[in-house]
Amino acid sequence: MTTIHLDINGHAHELLLDPRVTLLDALREHLCLTGTKKGCDQGQCGACTVHVDGERVLSCLTLAAQAEGRKVTTIEGLAAENGDLHPVQAAFLKHDAFQCGYCTPGQIMSAVACIREGHAGSDDEIREYMAGNLCRCGAYPHIVAAVREAAEASR
Ligand code: FES
Ligand code: FES
Repeated sequence: MTTIHLDINGHAHELLLDPRVTLLDALREHLCLTGTKKGCDQGQCGACTVHVDGERVLSCLTLAAQAEGRKVTTIEGLAAENGDLHPVQAAFLKHDAFQCGYCTPGQIMSAVACIREGHAGSDDEIREYMAGNLCRCGAYPHIVAAVREAAEASR
């Protein structure tokens, strides 16, 4: 076991963890931040997407120890402190961009990064840069519409 210091959504946490624990399991099992979802647990579905220092990463393929000293943002940290939804969250609601919702936190975290990276200029580009996030409900057309609107609003 080793002591790991994590900065999650602006809050400092000290955890005693097996060094092999993933960031995903640290979030879900040790910090009760269950908004980040575990789909495949092997880097194929995108459900576990979070931001580390502003960049999207798959938390199932990232060790908690690798996030030490870096800023981690999860879906729980996206809304403003007064509760106002992030524009991408609001766009997903407006466009009904989900069905079961299991992929949604990962989709939204990816979309926020995709827009910030400047990779949401067209529907094709959105589809390409969101391709790592699978939706088994097939909500893709609405997801693309939501990302497009949020991207346009951010310009
Ligand atoms: Fe991480 Fe599927 S749970 S990519
Ligand atoms: Fe069900 Fe995407 S909304 S998996």
